[in-house]
Amino acid sequence: VNKGNGVKGLSQTNLKSIPELYINPPEERLDPTQVVTQKSIPTIDVSKWDDPETADSICRAAAQLGFFQIINHGIPLEVLENVKKAAHEFFELPVEERRKYLKENSPSPTVELMTSHSPLVDTVLEWKDYLIHYCDGQEIEGSKFWPHVSRDQVLEYLKWTKPIIRKLLNVLLKGLNTDEINEANESILMGKLVVDFIYYPVCPDPDLAAGVGRHSDVSLITVLLQDDVGGLYVREPEGNGWIHVTPVQGALVINIGDVLQIMSNDKYKSIEHRVTVNGTKNRVSVPIFVNPVPNAVIGPVPEVLEGGVKPIYKQVVYSDYFNYFFSKGHDGKETIEYAK
Ligand code: SIN
Ligand code: FE2
Repeated sequence: VNKGNGVKGLSQTNLKSIPELYINPPEERLDPTQVVTQKSIPTIDVSKWDDPETADSICRAAAQLGFFQIINHGIPLEVLENVKKAAHEFFELPVEERRKYLKENSPSPTVELMTSHSPLVDTVLEWKDYLIHYCDGQEIEGSKFWPHVSRDQVLEYLKWTKPIIRKLLNVLLKGLNTDEINEANESILMGKLVVDFIYYPVCPDPDLAAGVGRHSDVSLITVLLQDDVGGLYVREPEGNGWIHVTPVQGALVINIGDVLQIMSNDKYKSIEHRVTVNGTKNRVSVPIFVNPVPNAVIGPVPEVLEGGVKPIYKQVVYSDYFNYFFSKGHDGKETIEYAK
């Protein structure tokens, strides 16, 4: 009966407590004493992409915290607000409408409704539902099958973010002294953009459940639009603490994913992060995972190995890496061991 209704459906039944399957063991709950309040992730003004200081700040942040927020990127606030509104609208649709996008019902492989991370293998379920839009460059075609509430907003948002993704990748690749984005490698390195609408419903036991467990992303980079609820925490480098990514109106959160950590032979860091849930508010976030195409071969780029530097990673086919990530529950930084 609940099929397709996800955590949203659970949350609507006015539960007094969460089902057993969502309860994390104490060591996986975020202990408030672990939250480092005196630190924050850097905010970088990208109004001048050609300014060497912009590039320096981005590469430095990528090498240290692996997370930063960008402001003055030029995307109108209205475009950002419309995407978040579309995410709310989708999850407010009647279950009969949402259910159409479950994998078994989905009209097209370019759209899919999911819950948790990988529900068949997650040891503890995550308190989130998400609608996935797969964008392979043909999304104007593919979007015909997307929900009417998300189609125009996602396409418009992509139109604005793609040039920013190219600029970010250019800066980061240049920082490795390797080829910047060109026509040939663009279709490989950013050949699969995945735009998720993540919905974290109000949770009756926010201390026991997790929105997302500890993990690092398997993208090159992730561009995240979040609302003003908060709950995203990033692992403090050299420490056991967690830094809150405080929502900044109009900002986009950028993080380095495993693919760039591998390509850079650890120069850039794909940092562990997690999401808590809220006892009073529904939260939405809209990440764009900038992924390479499935058959891309990923490994340290030759430039980072110059002068006899030892490669930390071997070459892996991206789809193998991606499938490995979804073959298990979120487990911190374990996925990258697969490439060693
Ligand atoms: C994620 O890292 O999986 C989601 C981040 C967020 O919702 O803030
Ligand atoms: Fe993530």
